[in-house]
Amino acid sequence: MPVRIAPSILSADFARLGEEIRAIDAAGADWIHVDVMDGHFVPNITIGPGVVKALRPHTAKPFDVHLMISPVDPFLDAFAEAGADIITVHPEAGPHIHRSVQRIKALGKRAGVVLNPATPVAALDYLIDDVDLILVMSVNPGFGGQSFIASQLRKIAAIRKLIDASGRAIDLEVDGGVDRTTARQCIDAGADVLVAGTATFAGGTDRYADNIRALRGQ
Ligand code: DX5
Ligand code: ZN
Repeated sequence: MPVRIAPSILSADFARLGEEIRAIDAAGADWIHVDVMDGHFVPNITIGPGVVKALRPHTAKPFDVHLMISPVDPFLDAFAEAGADIITVHPEAGPHIHRSVQRIKALGKRAGVVLNPATPVAALDYLIDDVDLILVMSVNPGFGGQSFIASQLRKIAAIRKLIDASGRAIDLEVDGGVDRTTARQCIDAGADVLVAGTATFAGGTDRYADNIRALRGQ
């Protein structure tokens, strides 16, 4: 399957979010990556379920909601109801990651686990049979525009092997510092979904389609 591109709206113009989502949809985005931050789990604050709900009618593409909030469990239902299709959670963001994954699935959504740069692959040992997606952070979460941490390529390759051995349909997504150069490295390491904020929105609306194409290596 060709790589899928999930633009992060963290780099969009927040005063025109609906319009920006329609623009990246038209420009060929596969998923819409929504970064939710609470100023506690990560040192930045973004948006909550109310904004996700307001954005939902602007596209039919899947909403990939990356929760960087702690505790996370009390908010899973609200993001599901707001229109998330995929909900990803960090093992560090709640006491019981297995319970969080089960709850997301019980809500009828696809469940993803996110590994921070220093979180080992072993964190997946007892989750691999349950998750629908694994998200490798190639920056420390909190901000767009950071540099890609190259050590995460080894992690992506190791997780690719785990997924293939599992025989399950698990997406392998990478988030942080993805540009046309690091995109190629991630794909070669085995990623199949790339998040890109800065690299998608650079240069304004007229550039979005070319930017997304470049991330696909086209
Ligand atoms: C970081 C977020 C990312 C971020 C990516 O905490 O999870 O999704 O927006 O931004 P770029 O592509 O600019 O590194
Ligand atoms: Zn993200």
